[in-house]
Formats: sequence, C-alpha cells, structure tokens
Amino acid sequence: MKIVVLTGAGISAESGLKTFRDTDGLWEGYNVYDVATPEAWEKNPEMVQQFYNDRRKQVLEANPNAAHLILAELENHFEVEIITQNIDDLHERAGSTKVSHLHGVITKSQSNVNPDSTYQIVGDELRMGELCEFGSQLRPHVVWFGEAVPMIEMAAEICSTADVFVLIGTSLAVYPAAGLLDFVPSGTRKFIIDPNIPNVSRYKNVIKLEGTAISQLQILKEILLNEK
Ligand code: APR
Repeated sequence: MKIVVLTGAGISAESGLKTFRDTDGLWEGYNVYDVATPEAWEKNPEMVQQFYNDRRKQVLEANPNAAHLILAELENHFEVEIITQNIDDLHERAGSTKVSHLHGVITKSQSNVNPDSTYQIVGDELRMGELCEFGSQLRPHVVWFGEAVPMIEMAAEICSTADVFVLIGTSLAVYPAAGLLDFVPSGTRKFIIDPNIPNVSRYKNVIKLEGTAISQLQILKEILLNEK
C-alpha cells in the first residue's frame, strides 16, 4: 500500500521551528517581499542571505520530532513518499528516504545563473562572495514567491498514485502546492492532520484528525497498522 504525505510548516512546529501564518509566525516578523522574492534578492541580497542564514541556524539546531519519526518508521510497513513544502531537512534527519522538497531545501545553495546547479552548504552560513562554478553569487536553494516550482509536475504524479493520502500541518494558502489534492484520486482516503483543519470541503473521502502532528500521527499509525 502506498502512502503519500504532503507536509507543511506545522509538522516542524513541535521541533521549535516557526510556521508562517500562525500567531507569531515568520511572516509576522518579516515582509515576504523583502526576503523571499527574486526582486528582494536583486535589491538587497545581503538581507536575503541573512534571513536564510538565521533560519538555517535554527534548522541545524532543531531536531526531528516524533511526527517526523513516525513517518520514517512507517516505511517499515508501507511504501511512503513525502512531498514537503518545508525547506528544513527534518524528514531526512528522521530517516525518511523518499522526500521531495517543493520549495527547495535550506541546507543547499544554487547557482544564480543556473538554478539546476545546487551545492551542499558547509556550516550554517552562505556568505556574499561565495561563487558558483559559473562565477556568479550563490543564493539559497529556495523557491521564492513568483518563481516556478520545478517539482510540481512530479509531485502531482506522485499524488495520483496514492492509496492513502495524508496532509499534515499546512494552511493550503500557497499554490501550486495547495492544488496537489486535486491530483489525489477521489476514491483515495485523505487524512487531514492539523489543529486548525484547512478548507478541504471540495474533496471526497476526507477524514479530519484535528490536533497536532505528533498526537494525530500516533492515532493514524494505529489505524493503518490495524488494517494490515
Ligand atoms: N501540528 C500540526 N499542524 C500544525 C501545528 C502542529 N503542532 N502547529 C501549527 N499547525 C498548522 C497550522 O494550523 C497551519 O494550518 O500548520 C499550518 C501552518 O500553515 P502555514 O504557516 O501557512 O505554513 P505552510 O502551509 O507550510 O505554508 C506554505 O507558504 O510562505 C510559504 O513557502 C512557504 O512553504 C511555505 C508555504
């Protein structure tokens, strides 16, 4: 049985990483257009680098929480594919082996002229003056607002193959990621895990598990294992 999981910032909340739109979320402290757009990078690359250097430090200091670990453990019983909107690497550090990062990953940089060229960042800082092999300034390997999401077609294909679909910790506020539910077969069960369930009223076979990722994944794991 193949389980496809789409995660958002909420799954990393219990690791101490801020979400974006909750109270005290990241976008309360920063204007998106100052730190997460190509225009911001053109205008003030130092500010953008600093924003991601600060977040990278927090990610490196954080640890996967029980929700990440449950998803990794489910691989011992089922085929599990994770599509994440998160740029942290907590799924991988928890042991998940099939993780697709729709919005990039904060531990990597990319060439400013050739986005397909990505590099592992050593340590927690990406500095101005660090150049790619083509001689241009390295930037965070993150998809900014207004940029294309190269992995979206592949992610839609993965969603279309789900025997069970699980949505965890996302407000479904940002497209094209939020539209991935459209690619999940209507007959597939869709478990929605969130303390504040987003609007999923247009989908069929929805089971709402209202609560935190850790508490509700423990319940979902029991449900799925009992069906085996
Ligand atoms: N467990 C599960 N869900 C939680 C928890 C928790 N402990 N705490 C908060 N949540 C939920 C919130 O209720 C909300 O629905 O996580 C969701 C977080 O929503 P957002 O902050 O909008 O984050 P996300 O949906 O991942 O944002 C999508 O927006 O800014 C862009 O690129 C950024 O990838 C991000 C995208």
